[in-house]
Amino acid sequence: MWAFWPELLDEIGKCEKCRLCQGRTNAVPGEGNPNADIMFIGEGPGRDEDMQGRPFVGASGQLLDRMIHAIGMERTEVYIANIVKCRPPMNRNPEPDEAQACMNYLRNQFVLVSPKIIVLLGRVASKFVLGDETPISRLRGNWILKKGIWFMPTYHPSALLREPSKKREAWEDFKMVKAKLLEVRGNGEIQN
Ligand code: URA
Ligand code: SF4
Repeated sequence: MWAFWPELLDEIGKCEKCRLCQGRTNAVPGEGNPNADIMFIGEGPGRDEDMQGRPFVGASGQLLDRMIHAIGMERTEVYIANIVKCRPPMNRNPEPDEAQACMNYLRNQFVLVSPKIIVLLGRVASKFVLGDETPISRLRGNWILKKGIWFMPTYHPSALLREPSKKREAWEDFKMVKAKLLEVRGNGEIQN
């Protein structure tokens, strides 16, 4: 049974299904176009996101915005969410039981948005969505088709800030995403 947006957002806002609820200022459900063709999935809120209740608004969010622009889109055209909706203490990775507790919200979002493409930002998002623990350096840059949705694992923007040398590969991934977007939209040409 799937929720609709208002009840989903309401449920996330008051959720106490895992210990991460204890440290949050605001839950960060996600934001963007509720009918987006493309979704971006991160790990979990950081300090800025927790303060504002919005995903990817800090330094890595600014880089993500630039990457979204690079594929010819605006932030408002895509949907952005995280594995866990509440900030882990000291920005540690979400624990498996926390991700498990929160995953139903993300599944709801997948169903409601019904995207054609999902970009998984980093190893944590890839591990919990695809169940694949392959290092992101090997997983990235390869399409995975699952239940009719194209998944592209790539580096997390904070990894690109730490190691700018990875930006070249990330750019390759985003070029593939741009091409896939044109493909699933029928290249802008009239179909049938
Ligand atoms: N990092 C994430 O994984 N998600 C955010 O929303 C912000 C930073
Ligand atoms: Fe609930 Fe997810 Fe927040 Fe845990 S992280 S309290 S499961 S909304």
